[in-house]
Amino acid sequence: MIPRHYIRNAWYVAGLSEEFAVDDLQGHTIAGRPVLLWRSRDGAIGAFDNRCAHKRMPLSEGRVLDDGTLECAYHGLCYDPRGACVAVPSHPDGPIPEQAKLRPFPVIEQDGVVWVWPGDPERRHESRPPRTPEVADDGYESISSGPMQVPANYLLLIENLLDISHFYPLHDGNIGDAANSRIPVKLEEGEVDGNRYVRTTREVESYEQPPFLADWFGYDIVDRHHTHCMVSPGLTRVQMRVAPPGQLGTEAERGYVLLHTHTPVDGTNHVWRWCVNFKAGLMSRGDPDVSAARRFAEMFPSVAAEDLWALEKQQQMFDFPDEGYAEVYLRPDKALRRARQVFSALLRKERGPAVAPAPQVAAAGAD
Ligand code: FES
Ligand SMILES: [Fe+2]
Repeated sequence: MIPRHYIRNAWYVAGLSEEFAVDDLQGHTIAGRPVLLWRSRDGAIGAFDNRCAHKRMPLSEGRVLDDGTLECAYHGLCYDPRGACVAVPSHPDGPIPEQAKLRPFPVIEQDGVVWVWPGDPERRHESRPPRTPEVADDGYESISSGPMQVPANYLLLIENLLDISHFYPLHDGNIGDAANSRIPVKLEEGEVDGNRYVRTTREVESYEQPPFLADWFGYDIVDRHHTHCMVSPGLTRVQMRVAPPGQLGTEAERGYVLLHTHTPVDGTNHVWRWCVNFKAGLMSRGDPDVSAARRFAEMFPSVAAEDLWALEKQQQMFDFPDEGYAEVYLRPDKALRRARQVFSALLRKERGPAVAPAPQVAAAGAD
């Protein structure tokens, strides 16, 4: 069953660059792997197996000494920022065993984001981490949620993000309403940098904005162009463009790029971050002293909490055997089904043919 699996051969977000201070040792679990992240004094970020080569003590529990080496908290083996053991306190004169070194994970820091490849290192060139240019661009005000622990498989979040038919009733009265759920969906697929993407577009004219969006953008009635794109297993990108009727593409246009990162911890847990990017200088209508980005960051957590609640409940239902149960696919679920099929194909490629394909059941309302 798909919502218990995860793909290892993919780039996943360990955090935004700003989350990694020099010599701050961080222990993460990414796709079932224990990962130590360490930005050393030369500014470079390293990712290693978090287990000390001696007796598995998590190295993130250790400390960085004055000489810039990492000392394990248990018996004091010391490692340099390349993961080589450089000192063994219990036999200072003896040779350092050949095996006393840390296994590195491929890591790439780009556009203000740190990406880790927890899979087969030989296959890391099959894709590149997606670009996130707004995060590192001073022309945007970018604010991140920080990591949120979600007790659900990450595919459930990806499906949630591709699906705005849940804006009513789940987000009714803040970012959604029933009219939102009925906007027709266009689906597009392709591949960039080795990443298969699935993108939905919803266009609507003379649309009355739900309260939160009117607060951030300052318009009540808009033409709206709204895309949701599963860029890769690790990133979903949402772009919102609004303007008074007839004025999309003019100076009056406003909007945001909302990045969602979804990093599997294991089959039933993931870490979710959102990072919103508004053009710098745009002030909110709800509080004219506060930027639209800041206002979004104050208000959006209540929306995310509603999604988190639903994802957790949904995941709990996967504990029951199907025993004849099958999900119904509706017309607006086309993108969700394609996302699941992309995942199934990646899993089959990674694990062999044992994983069942995505459901193909035709259902009432599906096309
Ligand atoms: S477990 Fe790290 S030094 Fe022994
Ligand atoms: Fe939602």
